[in-house]
Amino acid sequence: MIKPIKLAQKDFLSSLDMSTEECTHIIDLAKNIKNNSLNLEYENKVLGLIFDKSSTRTRVSFQVAMSRLGGTTIDLNPTTSQIGRGEPIKDTARVLSRYCDLIAIRTFNHSDLEEYAKWSTKPVINALTDLEHPCQALADFLTIKEVFQDFRNVVLTFIGDGNNVAHSLILCGALLGVEVRIACPKGFLPNPFIIKKAREIYKSDDLLKIIHDPQTAVKGANVLYTDVWSSMGEENQKENKDKEFNGFTIDTDLLSKANKDAIVLHCLPAYRNKEITDEVIESKNSRIFDQAENRLHVQQALLSCLIQ
Ligand code: CP
Ligand code: NVA
Repeated sequence: MIKPIKLAQKDFLSSLDMSTEECTHIIDLAKNIKNNSLNLEYENKVLGLIFDKSSTRTRVSFQVAMSRLGGTTIDLNPTTSQIGRGEPIKDTARVLSRYCDLIAIRTFNHSDLEEYAKWSTKPVINALTDLEHPCQALADFLTIKEVFQDFRNVVLTFIGDGNNVAHSLILCGALLGVEVRIACPKGFLPNPFIIKKAREIYKSDDLLKIIHDPQTAVKGANVLYTDVWSSMGEENQKENKDKEFNGFTIDTDLLSKANKDAIVLHCLPAYRNKEITDEVIESKNSRIFDQAENRLHVQQALLSCLIQ
């Protein structure tokens, strides 16, 4: 029977904090938790949640996951704690380490998350930064595995902005040996550091493709994935990005150019009829709500592999 292993790294800041074996293990553990074939108990364990940006799925899935594991969460709202007053991260992190068993953080700068991890003696989890969303990618690949059984011959085409969600898909895809294609406008490429790291893991340049024409990028794809064009913190770029991403909407026409069995994913929240049409979200190809559910199962699996 599968049992949680302890991850080699203390923190989960990036998809790069897992080995291929650890990534596969978390996904398989989550599958067992989902099928009720595994009951885990972490009584009295406390997860602190610091969210500098809004969240529905990540916040609630962490809260329910801890509750199912027998532990609790504390919502450290920056506006009602001293975090919002600007208390240095190195002080907050050391204090919270003395109360909490783990801390999940959603913030803007990835370097702030790294600063928390540096000073915290307890595991720190990335609940989304401007650079990565690694918990999301785990749920995404669990959803893909549920449909296709394994990752062999899976081609994932991400259509949209080359930022946090795309970055974690690229890195997690590299760990799992999945071909990942990013279809984005020329000015919205993924971070070169992420591309370099992924190519090092793949040991090949062929499995990660950057393509600027969505029609070409979806040919032969089994998974079409998109995310909002303007992320949290980019509200003032909305008008410009809506223009730049014209032609990058996943609609029924684009979907019809992918493989017949292609599934559609979106991390949510979505702007319907911008990056994806209402029709595609509600289509038989959509696995978007299974994907959202899987955040919960993956969160339990991840927490059980990080709790010290
Ligand atoms: N996908 C995701 O992270 O959703 P939330 O912003 O609602 O947490
Ligand atoms: N790219 C989006 C993801 C939201 C889950 C954002 O950062 O706002």
